[in-house]
Amino acid sequence: MSSSEAPRLAVFVSGRGGNLRAILAHGLPVALVVADRPAPAWRAARAAGLPACVVEPAAFGDRAAFDAALATVLAAYGIGLVALAGFMRVLGPELVGAWRGRMLNIHPSLLPAYRGLRTHRRALADGARRHGCTVHWVTAQLDAGPVVQQSVVPVLEDDDEAQLARRVARAERRLYPRVIERALLGKIALR
Ligand code: GRF
Repeated sequence: MSSSEAPRLAVFVSGRGGNLRAILAHGLPVALVVADRPAPAWRAARAAGLPACVVEPAAFGDRAAFDAALATVLAAYGIGLVALAGFMRVLGPELVGAWRGRMLNIHPSLLPAYRGLRTHRRALADGARRHGCTVHWVTAQLDAGPVVQQSVVPVLEDDDEAQLARRVARAERRLYPRVIERALLGKIALR
């Protein structure tokens, strides 16, 4: 992607880093990776030579102090867009409010269905025929911000949780980099 005007992108991670790898493979310029633990995703970022830091909640007295540390890091790196990619922390309303329209998340369900955790298990238990993933703007309410784009996958007759999770993960890795690219180019905005 090429735009000298594009905001600088930070990706927040806690886990495997499948989405982070897809973002990098898509050729998006990642200016900073932030992890809340020394997770595989953070190690992958370091191995790729990216600026990557760990901001551990346990190092701070409360969530407000943790959020303030995140805000400081984002400012220090001149970040203009944040993509949460499996970041397993709930951010406080002050930080989220300050980043309104500049913070995206990807969630492994077709929101508003299955907010929260264990989405694949819940979809299977319900006998859902369709499942998928959603990219949405982050707001103070968990997994409830305005939807930007979704990707639907079928739930097959003999699916188990792991199979369905893999199908959704593949859909995520196609969807998220493209949505982030559009956001970086100023083609999507939260009204
Ligand atoms: C993804 O399923 C994402 O939707 C959810 O956390 C998972 C992160 O996976 N928010 P990865 O670390 O990107 O592989």
